[in-house]
Amino acid sequence: MSILNIGVLASGRGSNLQSIIDACAAGLIPARVAVVISDNPKAYALSRASLAGIPAVHVWPRDFNSREAYEQQIIHTLTAHNAGLVCLAGYMRLVGRELLQAFPGRILNIHPALLPAFPGLHAQEQAWRYGVKYSGCTVHFVDEGMDTGPIIIQAVVPVWEGDTADQLAERILAEEHRIYPEAIRLFATGKLALEGRRVRVKE
Ligand code: GRF
Repeated sequence: MSILNIGVLASGRGSNLQSIIDACAAGLIPARVAVVISDNPKAYALSRASLAGIPAVHVWPRDFNSREAYEQQIIHTLTAHNAGLVCLAGYMRLVGRELLQAFPGRILNIHPALLPAFPGLHAQEQAWRYGVKYSGCTVHFVDEGMDTGPIIIQAVVPVWEGDTADQLAERILAEEHRIYPEAIRLFATGKLALEGRRVRVKE
């Protein structure tokens, strides 16, 4: 089986990126991270990439006069590294039409809540404030909405009595690091079939 090249878009600390790099290195996924792109020059994700010997590219949105032009540069970089899959890992921007059309059905995201509950920013805190007894995380295909695409895998995390929002977020993060590589493995091995909104896992 040929190896899948993954392009990762990240804006921050990059712990999910690290879990993907580690899973590839351990041979759990027939793929490799071919390039990491960040819109934030200070993103620790870029350092993680460099430490792993992966090309780390910073693209400033402010250098472009439209989202289309910015995304064209992202597409150019992804294509130059033969990316067959794009993984958003803490990428703090909505994906526009350009990027979606360049990689149809080939962009994944991880969200720290059980979608469709608590989309958007600070999802762990939103869930904790709401008082839910269970939250978790979701890996989904990306569409034009905010955290609205077809769901691939979810993991449930209970909220314990006395939990702080940070403690909950930490336990959710541990599950993110488990299910994101697993979803990528399913994609890379051709086990995912998209049927409307539903993702069938052929395993
Ligand atoms: C994670 O909680 C992820 O679910 C959300 O952004 C956060 C990124 O964390 N989309 P990291 O940069 O992967 O450590």
